[in-house]
Amino acid sequence: MREKADKYTEFVSRGFGKDLAKRLGLPQPVILRRYSPKAPLLEGPVLVLGQGAGADGVAKVLLDWHQDVRRHATPKEKLGAIVVVLDELEHPEQLSATMLTVGAALRDLNKNARVVTISRPAATSDAPAVAAARNGIDGIVRSLAKELRAGATANGILLANGLAANAASAISALRFFLSGRSAFVDGQFLTASSAGSQDQPDWEKPLKGSIAVVTGAARGIGAAIARTLARDGATVIAVDVPAAGDHLAAVANEIRGTALQLDITNPDAGQRILDHAVQRYGRLDIVVHNAGITRDKLLANMDNAKWDSVIAVNIASQLRMNETFLASPDFATNPRIISVASTSGIAGNRGQTNYAASKAGVMGMVRSTAPLLAERGGTVNAVAPGFIETDMTAKIPFATREVARRLNSLQQGGRPIDVAEAIAFFAQPAAAGVTANVLRVCGQNLVGQ
Ligand code: NAI
Repeated sequence: MREKADKYTEFVSRGFGKDLAKRLGLPQPVILRRYSPKAPLLEGPVLVLGQGAGADGVAKVLLDWHQDVRRHATPKEKLGAIVVVLDELEHPEQLSATMLTVGAALRDLNKNARVVTISRPAATSDAPAVAAARNGIDGIVRSLAKELRAGATANGILLANGLAANAASAISALRFFLSGRSAFVDGQFLTASSAGSQDQPDWEKPLKGSIAVVTGAARGIGAAIARTLARDGATVIAVDVPAAGDHLAAVANEIRGTALQLDITNPDAGQRILDHAVQRYGRLDIVVHNAGITRDKLLANMDNAKWDSVIAVNIASQLRMNETFLASPDFATNPRIISVASTSGIAGNRGQTNYAASKAGVMGMVRSTAPLLAERGGTVNAVAPGFIETDMTAKIPFATREVARRLNSLQQGGRPIDVAEAIAFFAQPAAAGVTANVLRVCGQNLVGQ
């Protein structure tokens, strides 16, 4: 789907602006391919590289999705994607044959193409050569993502616990990475730790019949999450503070959901959400903790109010609500929790010790909540956005904003929809084997790991 990009990206995307940027060596971001239910999964054939049952299984899945699959590159044929299956890797010396084939095919990639690796995570129990080979993929994907141009991305899937390359959860991650849903995800990995649901997924309405709550849904990223979950078939309870009541009602009406005016720092917020969900819909399936605030100050100038309010809204409320949800029989059938973190919680940010504490805290919470959710067949994950074009980032002074916006491999800011798509992916039944992940939606921001 073609969306309006920022003014600079529009300017350098065609005609005079394009020529000028090229001549002056200025950044040339392209308008990213974003998901639309009617658009094809990929623009062009997909080249599947790698030998063995893993690669064959993945090629078969792609054929079942009616993709144009190639097992060998045809010189000069334009490609929509390259999928590299390296699940049998045992030594770094085995990398060259496949990776140099990838390299030779890169020139034939279409705009907004995808490169996706499927491999195994390195573990301390692996033989050193095996661990070296497996960890090598990490360096390859992160470097290749920085080399690709024209909106193309490189991402990887890690098959934990001996999972097959065509396990349902790995395939759901593959579809996410190939599609326009992952437009602003670059240089990242998703780990699939169990096979997940074997039911035939409904890729167009994956959340059909699900009941979801989204906090901070009156505007910005939260409103985009609410709209995206509804687009994918969920019934959405939109939560925000009473002061945002009008906007909240507008979002809820637009998506035929319900609005719940609530400050999530209230001690009974979790129970109020559950009561609302149960009264109206009989249960709750998906929780999206999106509401968040910033109160930036250098630590030397920080005061109690700024510190405490950020911790209260961004992390303490989530911990308390999760406790309530996990104790309830009404949140028990394949439940999903997805939290919005931030790259500030990974890389740190000047003036944001309080915010980074809360967002790094969210990631810690997600990892240790995963076993509790697993007991009831559920998952918990976090999405860490980088620079996203919202009211929050529009307030940043022009020069600082322009730098922050371009400092990533895609040379542009992301859109609220990009964060929303990642959240909708984690909520899908097909992603039932994907848990305890922190997925950055940051265009491979140059800060952080
Ligand atoms: P925003 O400020 O536009 O929207 C946040 C919403 O949360 C508002 O509607 C607000 O009323 C609501 N909210 C705040 N406190 C609340 C409370 N106590 N109870 C209920 N609702 C409350 O922010 P934006 O940009 O949409 O951010 C959403 C999330 O994404 C936040 O967690 C933020 O930290 C995170 N994020 C945003 C990034 C960006 O570039 N915009 C980057 C990284 C993370």
